[in-house]
Amino acid sequence: MTASTKTVLITGGAKRIGRQMALTLHGAGHNIVVHYRSSANAASTLVGEMNAKRPESAVTAQCDLMDIDCIPAVIDTAVQCFGRLDVLINNASSFYPTPIELLEIDFWNDLVGSNLKAPAFLVKHAAKHLRDTGGSIINIVDIHAKNPMADHPIYCSAKAGLEMLTKALARDLAPAIRVNAVSPGAILWPEHNSITPEKSEILKKIPLQRMGAPEDIASLVQFLIDQAPYITGQVIAVDGGRSVMI
Ligand SMILES: NC(=O)c1ccc[n+]([C@@H]2O[C@H](COP(=O)([O-])OP(=O)(O)OC[C@H]3O[C@@H](n4cnc5c(N)ncnc54)[C@H](OP(=O)(O)O)[C@@H]3O)[C@@H](O)[C@H]2O)c1
Repeated sequence: MTASTKTVLITGGAKRIGRQMALTLHGAGHNIVVHYRSSANAASTLVGEMNAKRPESAVTAQCDLMDIDCIPAVIDTAVQCFGRLDVLINNASSFYPTPIELLEIDFWNDLVGSNLKAPAFLVKHAAKHLRDTGGSIINIVDIHAKNPMADHPIYCSAKAGLEMLTKALARDLAPAIRVNAVSPGAILWPEHNSITPEKSEILKKIPLQRMGAPEDIASLVQFLIDQAPYITGQVIAVDGGRSVMI
């Protein structure tokens, strides 16, 4: 551990983009709390990998974020294990279509709960510790927070809410805590989705003509954490230029 070692909590950090953020930030010397809901094996394998490289540098924290009562324990895990919390990354998210005529209350609760409500309550409980360390918050949003994706009105609305929460909290928590958002375009296809996206149709709409990679998200997140002390309240797209085409 060095003077610049930070403690970073990543929600939904066991797999995919969250996992890459954990590996990149751990590689930069930070301690990592990998929050997960159901991916216990993936979370403990990831934490084992990081601790093998640097002992006592990573832990897991389980919580279904639909239950906001378990959020304080997730924050406490970071503070108890590493003595501090410097960064909260709100990455956990559910994502699936909800054509409005088929909307059910459980879908609303799940999509708004994971993408907007839980991030707000995570900040509520983390703010004191982030203030103590002069820390920062990064919310992972979506380019479709600005331009809706067909048949995803609730997901897009929840991510639009998370963008506004980013700006509102950047204002309210300054100057102690910086708050920014990273807005991915097409990075990884959904893991569990019955709809097979027409890859070639999507690629046609991306000026750089390719998908992004989890590393593209992770490197911007690392920059915002370690090298951007004068950046707050911003939403930065990592989308190969897609947002200029829609
Ligand atoms: N993939 C893309 O191309 C893309 C594009 C635009 C935006 N994004 C955004 O980037 C972020 C990461 O994307 P991703 O594709 O890597 O995400 P993902 O695999 O779809 O989901 C990440 C994790 O969220 C967790 N999660 C979902 N609901 C939860 C709940 N109720 N409580 C606790 N955890 C919950 C799950 O944890 P468990 O597995 O432990 O259950 C899951 O592994 C998300 O915010 C997503 O919206 C991604």
